[in-house]
Amino acid sequence: MTDNKRVVLSSDHAAIALRQAVADHIAAAGWDVVDIGPTTPESTHYPLHGKAAADRVALGDCALGIILCGTGQGIMMAANKVPGIRCGVCSDTFSAAMIRQHNDANMLSIGARVVGEGLALAIVDAFLNAEFEGGRHAARVDMIEPKG
Ligand code: RB5
Repeated sequence: MTDNKRVVLSSDHAAIALRQAVADHIAAAGWDVVDIGPTTPESTHYPLHGKAAADRVALGDCALGIILCGTGQGIMMAANKVPGIRCGVCSDTFSAAMIRQHNDANMLSIGARVVGEGLALAIVDAFLNAEFEGGRHAARVDMIEPKG
């Protein structure tokens, strides 16, 4: 794992409580949390928050990102439009580890209306504690990014 322990967090209105639980959980585990909100419950637009978090990762300000919306799907789609971002939605711990190990995912998305807090925190742990295996996976990951 990189020495950069900064993890950016963002969500839309559907996932504020779960995002705050994730922030507390990973801060207690020693991660440097960069929570870019929102903090108020008004309805908002997940593409804005997905892109804002993805930009932090793409620019290298944060090593990893965790984003959340109702399903995790819309905010993941927005994040993946940012060059250099590989974000997967996970509802299980196996997938959360594998997207790091095989896909070198730099962002995780979670659906706050899909998984409960206990499972979500286990998914986060699986993602943050896994490492990219490199090797044969590196060339495949390189093929994901559009060229030219
Ligand atoms: C908001 O109602 C909901 O559409 C959003 O949180 C997310 O699930 C979209 O993918």
